[in-house]
Amino acid sequence: MKKRVKSWQGWLLFATTMVIVFVLGLMVSSLMERRAEVISVFNNKRVDIKNIEPRNEIFGENYPRQYATWKQTAETDFVSEFNSSDAVDVLAQRPDMVILWAGYAFSKDYSTPRGHMHAVEDITRTLRTGAPMDDHSGPQPATCWTCKSPDVPRMMEAIGVDSFYHNKWGALGSEIVNPIGCADCHEPETMQLHISRPALREAFARQGKNIDQATPQEMRSLVCAQCHVEYYFKGDEKYLTLPWDKGFTVENMEAYYDEANFADYTHALSRAPILKAQHPDYEIAQMGIHGQRGVYKRQNDL
Ligand code: HEC
Ligand code: HEC
Repeated sequence: MKKRVKSWQGWLLFATTMVIVFVLGLMVSSLMERRAEVISVFNNKRVDIKNIEPRNEIFGENYPRQYATWKQTAETDFVSEFNSSDAVDVLAQRPDMVILWAGYAFSKDYSTPRGHMHAVEDITRTLRTGAPMDDHSGPQPATCWTCKSPDVPRMMEAIGVDSFYHNKWGALGSEIVNPIGCADCHEPETMQLHISRPALREAFARQGKNIDQATPQEMRSLVCAQCHVEYYFKGDEKYLTLPWDKGFTVENMEAYYDEANFADYTHALSRAPILKAQHPDYEIAQMGIHGQRGVYKRQNDL
């Protein structure tokens, strides 16, 4: 005997199919919309941006939404148990650090970092550079500017990388005016991610790796690794160098520095040579569980 499908089962099947088709339709339409949006953003560029363009406002003409989120880095109203989006005077909070850093510029002034839009303002204000903007004889090298502005690659191209680092911090002050921005991470014509800072490229090369072969997924963290890394100023040339030749661990970098006979400072009271890690954010991410599991390497681009 033939088993007949009850009519309510047929209707259920019909209704379920309709819902699935509808949801799939929604997904496709949203995908097309995103695609169309990306294409229209690139087709409706208002200005042609070529070479190194350090002015973020110019990019803002073509990419208003990204520009708007970039501007949010100026906000200073977030506070959590651990940190804040505003600069907090660490030496006031922990005066013992003045003793620990005795003989090192950090003992003069150290505030917590904040958003990218403040970069030029903050380095100009800190007592660590030890010189007013118009004083060309200030003690710090121009290398201090390296992580602050898209005017840096512009000036490196204009005067050469060696002579950029070899200048005094005060001497380049009038040129470095735009805070960290689009040109630091983006190639201006296609907006592909790119490496604008030589130190990262050179650190890869010394390890026998070609950074131009990085995957798009790796580039998403490598753009940050141009600045959020441990570094030192090598030799009298004050050449910005990442101490990665032996690897990313604390022990690897300590071995590198020992071999190079380098210390960040000699402690004013104990005379002990001291290494102070700066901000090895990229290295910590690579050594952590996400890095170990290849999260920053995966090829499948979303
Ligand atoms: C050109 C150098 C440069 C690049 C590239 C860069 N940063 Fe920064 N970043 C800085 C500097 C300098 C500060 C501190 C600015 C200040 O305090 O005035 C900072 C601050 C920050 C802060 C807020 C303070 C903190 O440490 O929590 C975050 C978050 C941050 N960067 C994330 C990133 C991410 C994510 C990327 C990559 C997508 C990136 N940065 C790329 C230089 C850079
Ligand atoms: C610190 C690095 C950094 C800075 C500064 C930065 N971006 Fe980006 N931007 C990224 C990353 C990372 C992505 C994601 C790229 C990807 O998905 O592979 C991105 C994506 C984009 C995209 C989408 C590109 C595409 O092909 O889909 C646009 C457009 C863009 N950014 C514009 C800007 C503009 C305009 C500014 C300056 C106001 C800016 N970005 C500043 C890192 C940066």
